[in-house]
Amino acid sequence: MINRRQAIQLGAATLALPALHLRAGDDSARPALIQRPIPASGELLPAVGMGTSRTFDTDDDPQSLANLRAVMQAFVDGGGSVIDSSPMYGRAESRVGDVLRAMQPPPKLFAATKVWVKGKDKGIAQMQESARRMNVERFDLIAVHNLKDWKTHLATLREWKEQGKVRYIGITTSHGRDHDDFMQVMKREPLDFVQFSYNIEDRETENKLLPLAADRGIATMINRPYQRGSLFGEVRGVPLPALAGELGCASWGQFFLKFILAHPAVTCIIPATAKVEHMADNMGANFGPVPDAGQRAEMLRIYESL
Ligand SMILES: NC(=O)c1ccc[n+]([C@@H]2O[C@H](COP(=O)([O-])OP(=O)(O)OC[C@H]3O[C@@H](n4cnc5c(N)ncnc54)[C@H](OP(=O)(O)O)[C@@H]3O)[C@@H](O)[C@H]2O)c1
Repeated sequence: MINRRQAIQLGAATLALPALHLRAGDDSARPALIQRPIPASGELLPAVGMGTSRTFDTDDDPQSLANLRAVMQAFVDGGGSVIDSSPMYGRAESRVGDVLRAMQPPPKLFAATKVWVKGKDKGIAQMQESARRMNVERFDLIAVHNLKDWKTHLATLREWKEQGKVRYIGITTSHGRDHDDFMQVMKREPLDFVQFSYNIEDRETENKLLPLAADRGIATMINRPYQRGSLFGEVRGVPLPALAGELGCASWGQFFLKFILAHPAVTCIIPATAKVEHMADNMGANFGPVPDAGQRAEMLRIYESL
């Protein structure tokens, strides 16, 4: 006989099953894909994308490449499209390119990278090198990483956008100490995207950057949704609450992602993983119900009472 804790877990897992383990082509059986519009264009993006920091910074040996290819396949099978990288992430851009070259036909992705260097010419050279590494003809989005030399690079990116060399432009941060400067740039510059951290533990951007992005009509890409993985330590061994089942969440990971998605100013989230089963888990949050304001408050109350 199963105990109460197992029953809660089983109930939640069963409810969310249709969102998992289904390959492209099985769409009729899935709950609806959660998509959000980019305010600048109305283009819809699947809510859960992927990051590549650390996870794709590997050697190009056959074993690593086979694993990353399987991770990418799980991403695409789970309805994913938005992939975020940066020249700051060591070999990550190159590994993304290796994996995409090996996939036939190549998946249709929303490819985003960043520029992270000082100086106009170095910035241009870096963005061209990123395109070569990631096997991308034209980036969907290039953002200035951590505001580094942002005036210089935003000027170049605006020119590139006018010339059709990039579709969207933006800025990123993951540091609270940058938020004041970041908001000044958001207020003054025409931006399509901003990227910053937000999760159930670190909610500093909730009442500052997120509402400002909504006011300014800027899409938001949320980094560190798992606080670099540390959120899982907080819930190890803790059974999923009944609310998780109502929201189609089969895991704490999906619970954490759906909490973020419940903020109306969030456009997409970019959790990073080097594990196929974790990617399938993350993509489960791409489907089904989005918590309403009351459920969101209840999710927070549950997490804070752990
Ligand atoms: N300034 C910036 O522009 C900036 C700053 C920070 C991050 N970012 C971007 O945002 C992305 C995400 O942030 P992040 O990588 O720092 O942190 P994160 O996504 O919050 O956490 C990643 C960690 O969570 C673990 N994980 C992922 N899915 C899991 C699951 N379903 N179950 C259990 N563990 C799971 C991963 O380990 P496993 O590999 O073992 O699954 C990894 O250690 C980055 O990759 C990067 O693309 C940008």
